This record gives sequence, structure tokens and C-alpha cells, in this order.
Amino acid sequence: MSLAAALLLAGAAAPQVAPPTEVPRVTFDSRSLRIDGNPTLIWSSEFHPFRLPSPDLWRDILQKMKASGFNTVAIYIDWGFHSPKKGVYDFTGIRDVERVLTMAQEEGLYVITRAGPYVNAELSRGGFPGWLVNQPGKARTDDPEYLAAVDEWLDRINPIIARHQLGRGGSVILHQIENELALTTPAQGRYMQHLYDKARADGITVPMFHNDQGRNGYWVPKSSDVLLTVPGPQELYAFDGYPGGVCGVDNKPTRGAPAPDWGLYGPGGARGGASASPKTPGFIAEFGGGWFDYWGSNGMYPCNAIQRGSGYQRVFYGTNIANGIAIQSIYMGYGGTSWGWLPAPVVYTSYDYGSAIDEARNLRPKALELKQIGQFLQAVPDLARLEKAPPVTITGSDAVQVYHDRNPDTDARLLFVAPKPSNATGDARFTITADLPDGRYSFANELHGRDAKLLVAGVNLERQRLVYSTSELQTTIRHGAEDVALFYGRAGESGETVLRYTSAPKVTVVEGEVVNAFDAAKGDLRLTYTHNGLARVRIEGGGRAPLLLLIGDVAAGQSFFRQEALLERGPALVRRATVRGNTLDLTGDTETAAPLEVWGRVRAVRWNGQAVPVTHSVSGSLIARRPLPAPQALALPDLMAATWRYAEGSPEARTNFDDASWTVAGTARNVATIRPPTGQPNLGADSYGFHDGDVWYRGRFTGSPQAQTATIHYGAGGAGMLQLFLDGQLVGQHELAGGLPRPITTGVAEFALPREAQAPGEHVLAAMVRVNGHNWDLDVDDAHKEPRGLISVSLARPGGDSFAVPIAWKIQGRASGEELKDVARGPSNNGGLYGERMGWTLPGFPDGAWPSLKLADAKPYTGTSWYRTVFDLSVPKGEDATIGLQIGDPKTPRSPGRYRMLIFVNGWNMGQFVANVGPQRVFPIPDGILHHRGRNTLALAVTSDGAPGNAIEPVKLVTLHHVRGGVAVTDVAAPAYRDLYPTP
Ligand code: GAL
Repeated sequence: MSLAAALLLAGAAAPQVAPPTEVPRVTFDSRSLRIDGNPTLIWSSEFHPFRLPSPDLWRDILQKMKASGFNTVAIYIDWGFHSPKKGVYDFTGIRDVERVLTMAQEEGLYVITRAGPYVNAELSRGGFPGWLVNQPGKARTDDPEYLAAVDEWLDRINPIIARHQLGRGGSVILHQIENELALTTPAQGRYMQHLYDKARADGITVPMFHNDQGRNGYWVPKSSDVLLTVPGPQELYAFDGYPGGVCGVDNKPTRGAPAPDWGLYGPGGARGGASASPKTPGFIAEFGGGWFDYWGSNGMYPCNAIQRGSGYQRVFYGTNIANGIAIQSIYMGYGGTSWGWLPAPVVYTSYDYGSAIDEARNLRPKALELKQIGQFLQAVPDLARLEKAPPVTITGSDAVQVYHDRNPDTDARLLFVAPKPSNATGDARFTITADLPDGRYSFANELHGRDAKLLVAGVNLERQRLVYSTSELQTTIRHGAEDVALFYGRAGESGETVLRYTSAPKVTVVEGEVVNAFDAAKGDLRLTYTHNGLARVRIEGGGRAPLLLLIGDVAAGQSFFRQEALLERGPALVRRATVRGNTLDLTGDTETAAPLEVWGRVRAVRWNGQAVPVTHSVSGSLIARRPLPAPQALALPDLMAATWRYAEGSPEARTNFDDASWTVAGTARNVATIRPPTGQPNLGADSYGFHDGDVWYRGRFTGSPQAQTATIHYGAGGAGMLQLFLDGQLVGQHELAGGLPRPITTGVAEFALPREAQAPGEHVLAAMVRVNGHNWDLDVDDAHKEPRGLISVSLARPGGDSFAVPIAWKIQGRASGEELKDVARGPSNNGGLYGERMGWTLPGFPDGAWPSLKLADAKPYTGTSWYRTVFDLSVPKGEDATIGLQIGDPKTPRSPGRYRMLIFVNGWNMGQFVANVGPQRVFPIPDGILHHRGRNTLALAVTSDGAPGNAIEPVKLVTLHHVRGGVAVTDVAAPAYRDLYPTP
């Protein structure tokens, strides 16, 4: 059954609870996953809906994945994103998990759910909620308090997933219960069992897995033969891997390492076979399709996209397929944005990842290559089950290797041709001799640069028999009485395709130069050609259904989109194809005026709702008489010409600031991994319910001759910082370095105090800590409990008693802490800046009394200053764009200025710019957060020490993506100022 048909069936059934006798739709054997009994190769990529806070755009990503040849999407679900407070959960608006699962089903994608409790994912706390850091029990163990917290989450998320399983109203086919749990003690074993049992009790019936951090064989299922002290309770063994190297310091791609053999051709022994778990199919739950980037880098995302782009994809993903990896998911398919306080200390706002769909939702060139691989995998179901076939002979070159596999049921062959070693970049010409199902054949081939080829032989394609081809198969369709097959090769390379017939067929070359010869003894029709543009050959008779053979170069192949029995080419993207009667309704995107050609059993074509006049071509297709329209020019307002309102925003520093409503800090229980010296107060922000973003402290002390130096131990995450004021004056600022592999997340700042501190009477120390995320708990060491905010503060004189001067502290973070004021924007949107607490970030805040200025006249200010403006956008209807905010010169990853800035767009915290750390200077704002057809409010919170040169640089709106087409987007509903701050 086709995926669409299966999903249709699934939608029709949709029982809420599984009858006990239900036949499972998703099963597996040692080689493959089976859906409704049919071996199905799972070709997936990862998407984090929480990294795109505009739910209508989730469909855009899913459609782009589907159009790029994937049949599955893998999603992480971030516990902390849904829970600001113990017992409080939200699944509405941008947190509507049901909605993304429904969309995936509607778009014809299977789903792999990965719902934590722990996900890592370069998220603050690895996805744990803020409040969890106050639990004394060790996380990711069977500690009862931790398990109770986990159950609170699973009680809510598991039933949602259960409702969206294949056959029950959705398309979820696999479910992950934990992520990279590398500690395999009995306590972890009991924890894993708990997670498994809970999922089953909550109605999740699809096969479950854990994602091993590398092919270590941790949590290999109980049912396997592998002897482990603590086996996994789940059915499937899965692992992740990020081979392929990283960009050099010069930000240029490197050769990386050869592709690992993580299956059939890998190390044998007890963990041999296609998996580290011989009884389950080869399953890579995450395979690096890019890499994340870190504070202070040179801006590696474009290079990451190339490092794991063209060539890498064919070599590495191809090696996995040849190794019998039957379930493979690319991390990330779309990276998105770690907006607000989502980022872990290791990453900055952009989570572009160098993935096939960039952060601004453009399809990178590598997406076109993925489309070819994906279409191929879907066109040849035989590839879902592979075993080794006898080795082939290669002559003429030592620089290539061929993995020869066969399907044990159909004997169809895969010949994966790769450089040897697979990271080599040279050219090779060679001949392959192989015993294939239809006989012994020798054929010449070439490989140039870093490249690989997935060739098939001895396989039935629709109603045709392919003996072999030195071109790669891209896809096939059944076009009524005729079959269409599309092959491709590198431009200028020669190729041959051999098809089997009972008698000589009639061959008509419709377009291009293709020579044919028929060998009556074997029944082989041999077509020879050079790949160049798109050749078209019609083959009729010979005892088979007629065939239209399309032979393209790579670029021609990449222009094709495919759905069930339809092929289209021309536009930048075809999203959906729906046939109603004789009419084909296409939706999609054009970047420029584009041609359109379609193969399908239809007479009329519509494009984005408009009729397209067509003519019939000799090769059975319909061709648009006029190009599809291009997008119109997009004019953006000039923010430097705009009027801005300005306010100073660190009043907390002043002696007379009213902190009566603030929380007294000191005595809360402290379970953090770093504690103050014995007897000193607990100042950790989390202990007082402030888990994300900035936190302010005010400490009163009596002036003393001891108060000469302030030594401050604080926690602030990657590129975090501290500002210390005494009686309203800045004493100093301290910043933590970003950088890999582990950013510095805590620091000790030492400041000489001004003489006033020694003067008798009361003094006020005020400290602002910029908290850039909590550590992840990757190593099961409770690292997420590393404290944030102040850890300890000592005022002393050199050589004196460290804590001679007692300080009475008060603390204030986000307004009302864990009690969310702004539920729609959620727990990761706001920290505790004064302007945030006062609603200065929000649309409709009455800033009319603030002084106005042009941004070019902005002066450096000590502490945090706020700039607000409004602007209107009018993106033409029927066009899709991503508009971003650019700060300063995008060519320089760091600026001479030393300041940082939070960017609030219509109240949403869309990221942090740190001028002196970098590298991000362009912040894409998704449509829906930005109002593309209406008014927008921009509020920038600029923090600096006020030194000359530290003023805000010029800001500019820039178009990062623009097409005619797109999906319909409604502005994301969220409160305005008057909703959260009603006038009495
Ligand atoms: C994996 C992990 C993911 C993510 C990735 C790197 O090991 O499972 O959550 O952190 O590494 O981007």
C-alpha cells in the first residue's frame, strides 16, 4: 500500500484506544521496518517545531521535506517548552504538538516522536523544565522524585502521541524514550524500564527505541542475543553519529574522515549484522546533516552546509544505505531558531545547522541532491531490505570501491560506488564486472571529486526490467499505459542503460542523442549516451508496457518533483499535487518566472489556484504556454530613517530604587552543583523560581574599611555576563567566554570597589547577570543544576576575612517567576530586565512620553537602554518571505563595540546579538511573529558599560527569502501591553 493510502486508511479508522487484538501496523524483522507488512525504508530528517514559533509555517517545512524526498520527519518535543512550573503545562498556540502531528499526517509524512524526558538538542537544560533544577534527586535515574516529575510530563505528552499513531488518527511509526543515556547502571536500567512501561500504559503501541550516543551497543534490546548486564526494555536499537569532519578555523570545508561502516560492512562479532543489535534493523536516529555553531565562531553555518553538502550526502548517506541501515534520520532537516532563552550555553540564537532547509526557510542546493536520493529510495522498495552480495571486480583504478548488496527476497542489486577511501577527492575511470541477476556484465564508469553513485541492477521498475544502468535512477511513475523512468548522471559523462525485452522493441529518440542496440540472444536493449540536459526516449513493444525514458544531467534531474503518479519540473518548489477529475492542482513556489512541465493523466493544470494554459508535448507531458509568475519586488522600511523612542532601563542600580516587592534571597534550599562557602547565603536564581534570562540582585551593606574588593562568583552560561553597580555607579562588567567544546559557564569577577564602599552608612550593591542558558545533562551528572546568577559575593580587603562584610540580598528575575504572565509567548521568552517586567517589549506599550531620536544618534549607556519603534510591512498576498534584522556589517563577525542586545519583535524575544563575541549579525524573524501585512513593534534592549564606542550599530531590515507561493500564515496570537497590564 502507498503511504498516502495507508494514511487515508489511518484517518478513517482512528480509534482512541487500541483494542487488545489489534494487528500492529508497524513491525520489524532483523533487516527492515515493516508497515502493514511491507518492508519500508525510513528516510527521515529532523525538525523542532519549537524552533519555529509560527505554527502555520510548520506546514511549509513539512512540505519542503516531503518535496525533498523524505517519507518521515523526526521531531524532538521539549518538555521545558511546555512547563513553566511544576504541574503547569501548555499545549496551545506555538506549543500545539497535536497540530504538528496532524500536519505531518496531512502532508503524507510518517513521524518519529522523540519526547524526552531528556533531549539534549543544544537546548537550555537539554530540554528539562526550569523548575526541575530544584530537585535534589539525580536526573535520568530511578530517583522517585525525578520519576514523579517525568510522569507528570509523560501523562500529558504520551497520550497525545498515542492518539497520533499510524492507524489511530496519525502517522507516528516509532517513538524514542530517552536520548543518549550513556550510563548503563542498574538505576538507569530501572529508569529506562519505567519510561518504556509508562509509554505502553499510556497507549503508545509502535516500536520504541533509545538513541545511543554512537554505535556503542548501549540499551540493545533485551530480546537481542547480545549479552549485556543492563539491556534495554525497548524493541529497537538506534544510535546517532556525526562523522564527516568539521570546517577548519579558516571557515573552509575540510576533507573530514571516510564514511564509517555502521552495518553490513562494519566490524562483525557479537554485534555484527546491519545493527549493533543483530535482531533489529539498522537504525540511525540522528545522522549529522550539518552541525551547530557556537558563540565566538566565525559564523560557520554556510561552511557547515558545504561540509555536509553535495558529495558528503551521496557518500555518507549512501554508505549507510549500502550498510543496510533501514531507518535513517538526518539531523537537522530544518534547524530553525533557538529564540528567547531556548539556547544551551554552547549555541547562539541561530540553529541554522547548515541544514538542507536554511533558517530563513530557503532550500539550500543540497536539498536538491537529497531529493534525488529520496526519490530513488522510494522508487525502489527492494532497498528496504539488503544483505551483502558477492564482491564485484573493479579494474582500471584503485581509487574506488563498490559495495554490492542484494535484496534477499527479490535479488535486486544495489551497487554503491564510492571513492576509496571515501573522503578521497580524486578522479577515477574504471570498469565494474559483476554477476547480476540477469547475467554477468562489465561496464565502464567514472567518479570525479568527492562523489558517489547509488546504482541499481536486476530490478523491476514499474512494468520494466532494468538489467543495469551506469546512470543513477531517480524515479519512476506509471503514467497510464506508459511508464516513465528518470535517470541522471554527471554532465558530460557517458552512460549506458540496459533493459530487458522478449523481442526487439521500437526505440524513438524524442530529444537528445541516444544510441541503441538490441542483443536478441539476451533480450537486452542497450542505450548509450552522454548526460547533457534532458534526453527523452520512447520504447514501445518488445513484450512490455511502453516506456518513456528520461535521461538527464544532475541539474535536469534535480528540476523534477514527484508525487504518486505525477512528475513535474520547472518551478523552485512543488508543494502539493492534487488531481480532481482531469485537473491537476499544483501549489508551489517560484523564485523567478519559471517554466512548468508535468506528466500525469490530466488535461488541465492549475498553479496556486490559477489556471495554466498548456500544450501537449511529444513526450506525453503538458507544458505551460507561459512562464509561471515571479514574485514582485519587496520594499522594506528604513529603520535608520525611522523615529525611535528611548528609555534608560537599569533603575535597579540606583540607591533609592524600590525593591520592596523583590524576594529576599539567602535561605532557600540549595541543590545546585556549586554551592557558596559554608554559612554564606544561597543566591542561586533558580532557587527563587527565576530560571531563564536576566536576573537582578540588590544587596545592602554597611560601609566598612574591609569593603575594598568585591569578589563575585557567578553562573551565566556561554558568553554570559555580569554588571556590578555600587550606589548607582557601574563598578565593572565581567564576561564569560563562549566557544567549544565546552563554553565557560561560571566565572569569578574581581573588582576594586570605589572608596564610598568604606564610608559609613548603608550602601547598595546591584548586580545584573545575563544568564545565557543552563548546561545540558548529557553526561548524567546533573550539570543542568549548575547555578545561575550569583553564587557568592565577598567584600574584603586584601588578606582580610573574605566574608567580613555581611550583605542582605534581594533578587528579581522574570516578573512573577514561574507564574507565567505571558502564557502565549511562554517560559523562554522573558527574563528579568526592568523593561521586560514593565512590558516595554510589548506592542501597544505607551512610549509616547519617552524622548525620540534617530538610531544613528544613540549614545552608549551604562547598563541597559531601550529603543522602540514601529514599522509597517506589506508583503504582497500570495508571496512568502522571511525578513530579518541585520545589525552592523554582516561581513565582520565581531565588532569593535562591546555591547549586547536583545531583539523583541512584537513582544517576542527573537534573539541576542553580542557585538564583541559574535558571530550572528542577521536574525531571521518568521512570518507570523513579524506581521507581514500590518504594523510591527520592535524593541531593542542594549546593554553595555557605557564606554565610548559601545553604542548600537546601524540596524536594517533585510529580505532573506522571497518567493511567490508559500503557505497561508496567520499572525501568531499573543497578548499586547493592555492585555497584560490593564489600566485599573
Ligand atoms: C546528539 C544529540 C542531539 C544533539 C546533537 C548535536 O548527540 O542527541 O540532541 O545534541 O547531538 O547537535
